[in-house]
Amino acid sequence: MDKIIIEGGKPLKGEVRISGSKNATLPVLAATLLTDETCILSNVPRLLDTNTMVKLLKSLGKDVDWDKDKLIIMSNGKANPVADYKLVSTMRGSICVLGPLLAKLGEAKVSLPGGCVIGVRPVDLHIKGVEALGAKVDIDAGYIIAKTKRLQGNRVYLGGASGPSVLGTANIMMAAALAEGETIIECAACEPEVEELANFLNEMGARIKGHGGPRIVIHGVKKLHGAEYKMSADRIEAGTFVLLAGMAKSDIIIRDFDYHQLTALDDILKKVGVQVLVERNSVRIKAPKVLRPVSVTTYPYPGFPTDIQAQYMAMMSLSNGVSVVRDTVFPDRFMHIAELNRMGARIRREGGSAIIEGVKGLCGAPVVASDLRASAALVMAGLVARGRTEIRRVYHLDRGYENIDKKLMALGASIKREKE
Ligand code: EPZ
Repeated sequence: MDKIIIEGGKPLKGEVRISGSKNATLPVLAATLLTDETCILSNVPRLLDTNTMVKLLKSLGKDVDWDKDKLIIMSNGKANPVADYKLVSTMRGSICVLGPLLAKLGEAKVSLPGGCVIGVRPVDLHIKGVEALGAKVDIDAGYIIAKTKRLQGNRVYLGGASGPSVLGTANIMMAAALAEGETIIECAACEPEVEELANFLNEMGARIKGHGGPRIVIHGVKKLHGAEYKMSADRIEAGTFVLLAGMAKSDIIIRDFDYHQLTALDDILKKVGVQVLVERNSVRIKAPKVLRPVSVTTYPYPGFPTDIQAQYMAMMSLSNGVSVVRDTVFPDRFMHIAELNRMGARIRREGGSAIIEGVKGLCGAPVVASDLRASAALVMAGLVARGRTEIRRVYHLDRGYENIDKKLMALGASIKREKE
């Protein structure tokens, strides 16, 4: 396993290009299971998670080849409805092959995804959705086993205790694309990644409307054809760099993404005092002398994203007052608190909230990454801390950030990767 060593305090200056979106790419890759024709995706990020999904597609009857940042996905005639435990347990996002396998093959056997450090990851809404479309579902030996002659369109409410489900909406939208008749998803997730998936499905010949909003209407079709598609930029990677630029001594231009997908963050940054100059498809960030403390609660899109909660907490640990961060999507997503406190932050947890008392500065320390976004928060803290930070288990970081050490080095950071 690798570790990352950072000498903090270096000024960061220059340009960084945002890679393709991990959370849009995973369901779009799953959607290629809905056709036997060739699909070509470009601007695909090379990540541990995209590699895992490629391995899964290969086990399900696809030949997949990389051609620079392009993925060419073809059918090899050996369609297989079983997504095995080894692969699904390493990446929760694999659950989104359930809908396409069921719709294309009439059956799916998908391992229940493991939980992870950000909390219990139920799939009751995924099951409720496919059952609403007429599938018979059993749970046996850690697998979801779903069968159907042909899925029937239906109206289904997909809101759970914590609001809509992103991959739940993705699964049902993909299943409904080949169902008989019309499906209406109420309380659908509005995330840009869901919208992107619907755009890709429509490129394949699906008939989907209302995506990006809470009510999606899908008219099932008999067959879907192959498609070529360019993945959009990763709004969470972009938000991570925007927050880093706002808390470091920096003058950074962040390129090739749509800042309007981060309006909740922009609203908060204005109150914190971070200046964001928006150009066409890039932003220029100037860090303020003082970061004002601003409390935040995460909500499903268009609310403040849970996926930048840890990174925001790193910024607030340097504010000149007290702020509160509450996560309503994943109330247990606070593994980063203990590690940030090892670096001199003053954060304490109270239930689903974290109380952050800003400090003058952080100090480098040996820390351990626990999950994807927590590890990004530790890298940000290490870049602004005094002295040396050593972050172990950086495979968490590599799951969702393409070449982040190289991108940071290009901005002037003192950062290197070593074998643990
Ligand atoms: C997606 O996960 C993202 N992952 C997550 O990003 C992101 O944090 C999450 O959406 C919320 O925005 C991918 O897209 C691969 P959910 P997903 O179903 O779809 C509850 C990252 O860092 N729920 O929208 O699995 C659930 O417990 C990752 O890139 C049910 O109750 O999340 C949570 O409280 C981490 N029943 C809430 O809904 C269900 O059947 C939102 O979860 C499903 C979910």
